[in-house]
Amino acid sequence: MEKAILFVWVLVLLTIAPVHSGYYTSQPHVPPKLKKTHLRFFVHDILSGTKPSAVQIAGNKPTPNNPTPFGSLFAIDDLLTEGPQITSKVIGTAQGLYVSSSQGKDLTLILYVDLGFTTGMFNGSSLSVFSRNPVSEGGRRELAVVGGRGKFRYAQGAVFVTTNYLNVTNGDAVLEYNVEVIHP
Ligand SMILES: *[C@@H]1O[C@H](CO)[C@@H](O)[C@H](O)[C@H]1NC(C)=O
Ligand SMILES: *[C@@H]1O[C@H](CO)[C@@H](O)[C@H](O)[C@H]1NC(C)=O
Repeated sequence: MEKAILFVWVLVLLTIAPVHSGYYTSQPHVPPKLKKTHLRFFVHDILSGTKPSAVQIAGNKPTPNNPTPFGSLFAIDDLLTEGPQITSKVIGTAQGLYVSSSQGKDLTLILYVDLGFTTGMFNGSSLSVFSRNPVSEGGRRELAVVGGRGKFRYAQGAVFVTTNYLNVTNGDAVLEYNVEVIHP
């Protein structure tokens, strides 16, 4: 009798438990309701001066008229601000890498960057950008947002970038980022 009850319990547990085999478990996924969030801010990418926010870590040496020659790799810790002025309210940082990726006359950068927010609703959350930025095309460029952390976990979206300021001699730039992101 007791054996029979135990057997029934084992059957019940087996039917409701997630699939479990060694190192993984899987269960049905219920898609959450998604939100669409717009963000607008400015990125200060400063190569000049005594405390640059972008430093070259590998690749060809810059020349007087090309601060980012093909193959040069930069580490960045750029400030994100609400307005275009560097004195405007800081809302986060863009940390990561970019590599100058075109052998042609155009300037193209591939960005591997985490946009981390340090204030307001999205404090502690970040967006992962992994994309090509055809800088010299001018106008509005589009970067892919491939994920995120915190409130932006499982995020997907796009950044529309325009150049607010660029010094072609030393490479200093202020970029306007308009972000559209879909997230839980
Ligand atoms: C952002 O979050 C950090 C860590 O939780 C906290 O220390 C900081 O005070 C927060 N900043 C703002 C402006 O809310
Ligand atoms: C651009 O950078 C060069 C080299 O650092 C500097 O001499 C020049 O004044 C800068 N131009 C502007 C408009 O700031």
